[in-house]
Amino acid sequence: MPHVTHLAPQPQGAPAADRSAPRHHVRPAAGNWCNDPNGPLYHDGRYHLFFQHNPHAAVWGDIHWGHASSPDLVRWSDHGIALAPGPERPDRLGAWSGCALVDNGVPTAVYTGMDRDDGIGSVMLARAADPGLTRFDALPEPVVAGPPPGLELLAFRDPYVFAFEGRRWALLGAGHRGGTPRPDVLLYRITGDTLDSPWEYAGSLLDAAEPAVARHAMPATAWECPAVFPVGEGRWMLVLSLWADGVTHTATQLTGTLRPHGDGLRFVAESGGLLDHGRDFYAPTALVEADRTLVWGWSWESRTEAESVAAGWAGCLTHPREIGRHPDGTPRHTFARELTALRGTELRPGTPLPPAYEIQADVRAQEPDTELTLRLGTGLVLRVNPTRGTLTLDRSGTPASGTRPRPRPDTVTAAGPTGAGGRLRVLVDGPLVEAVWDERVALTEKVYPAPHGTWRAEVTQGRAEIDVAAWEHP
Ligand code: FRU
Repeated sequence: MPHVTHLAPQPQGAPAADRSAPRHHVRPAAGNWCNDPNGPLYHDGRYHLFFQHNPHAAVWGDIHWGHASSPDLVRWSDHGIALAPGPERPDRLGAWSGCALVDNGVPTAVYTGMDRDDGIGSVMLARAADPGLTRFDALPEPVVAGPPPGLELLAFRDPYVFAFEGRRWALLGAGHRGGTPRPDVLLYRITGDTLDSPWEYAGSLLDAAEPAVARHAMPATAWECPAVFPVGEGRWMLVLSLWADGVTHTATQLTGTLRPHGDGLRFVAESGGLLDHGRDFYAPTALVEADRTLVWGWSWESRTEAESVAAGWAGCLTHPREIGRHPDGTPRHTFARELTALRGTELRPGTPLPPAYEIQADVRAQEPDTELTLRLGTGLVLRVNPTRGTLTLDRSGTPASGTRPRPRPDTVTAAGPTGAGGRLRVLVDGPLVEAVWDERVALTEKVYPAPHGTWRAEVTQGRAEIDVAAWEHP
C-alpha cells in the first residue's frame, strides 16, 4: 500500500486555526511548487487528479506529476509523485501538462515530454504501474515526436484527448513564430483503438483572426492547455489559457460547434468570455462525465515569490466546478454538487471567520441598481448588483503583494447577464477565495493575509430581500 497523507489536516503540522494555506484544496502535501491540474480521471471508484509539481522548491522547475485522489471530490489524499522525468528520455527536462484516460483497461497519462528549452515538446504516454495509480511508467518513444513538419512554432505542448462522433482526437496548444501573434490549437487524429496507435496531424482547429476568437482569446502568442467538452444542444466549449511572450494572462472560453473539415475538424466560435474573472486562475482542464463536466484550474499566488519561498509552498488547484450551458446559451458555472458535504457548523453573521467556510446569499432586488455587500473581515469585500449583472471583489484592505504575472488593481468586476436576483456562493479556504454569482460568473483570487475577523452581509444600495447562510468547512 502506498504511503497516503490526507491533505486536509494541515500537512506541515500547522495548528487547526492556521489560515495561511488551503486545507481542502489539492496541492502537494510535501509543499513546494504546484501549477496546472493534469489528467483528472475517475477509475475504480475514485477520482484521481494530477498536477504539475516541482518537488524541490516553491518555484517552478524540474516538473513532475504530483497525485491526489478522492472517493467523493471532497476529501483528498496525497500520493506523492506519480510521474517523474527520466534522464534518458524525451521528458528529461520535465513531464509537462497533459491528460489521462483509461486505455485498453490501463490508466494512461498522455503528457508533454520536454527535452528542449524553447517550449516545444513531444507527446508521451505513461501507463499506471499499480492499481492505486501511484506510479506511471513512461513508454520510451513519444507518439508525436514534435511539431508537424513545415511549422515554425514557439510553443507545442499540453495534449488533450477527446472523442467526437465515434473517433478519438487530440488537441495540442501552440503558437506560430514571427509576424503578427498567431496562437493556435493543433489537431491530431488517433488512428487506432489504443493511444499508442499512430497519431496523424489533422490541421489547425481554429483561426485566431476570426472575430469571435480575436475578441475573446487574445492577446496571446500561444494558447496553452486547450480543452474541449460538450455543453449540450450540439455545442462545445473550448477552453484556452492565454500566454503572451512568456506571460501567463488568463483562461478564456469559446462556445460553438465542432465541424468536420477535410480530414480534420474546425471549431466555429459563437460566443466567449473569461472562464473566471479573478486574477489567480489559469490552465483549467476538464473531466467529462456522463451527465456533467468537471473543471479544475490552477490558482497561483498573489504574493511575492520570496514570500512563497519563505512559506515553503506555492500554488494549489481550485475546487472542482461543473461547467455547462444555461438554457439562454450562456455558460453555467457551479461548484461541484458534492462540495455541500464540506458544510459543518452554521456561522452566524458577526461571528469570527474560521480558516475555511462558505457563505451563500440569495438576493432578490426590489428596485434597479440594488447592491448586496458581503464583508469578510476588514480586508475583503464582495458586492453583487443583480440588475447590472455584476460581481465585484474589492481587496483594497488586503492588496496583492506580488506583481506577477502583472500588477493588479485592487478591484475587479465581473459582468454577466442582468436579472432581478440570484445566489452568491463564496467558498474560502485560507487565502483562496472562490466566488460564483448566479451560476453565471466565477471569480478566483488569493488573498494574503486570509480574511479574518467577523463577516456581515447587507443591502448597501437600493432594496432587496436577502437570505443568507454560512457554514464552517472544518
Ligand atoms: C501552463 C504551462 C503548460 C506547460 C506547463 C509546464 O501553465 O505553461 O503550457 O505544459 O505549464 O509546467
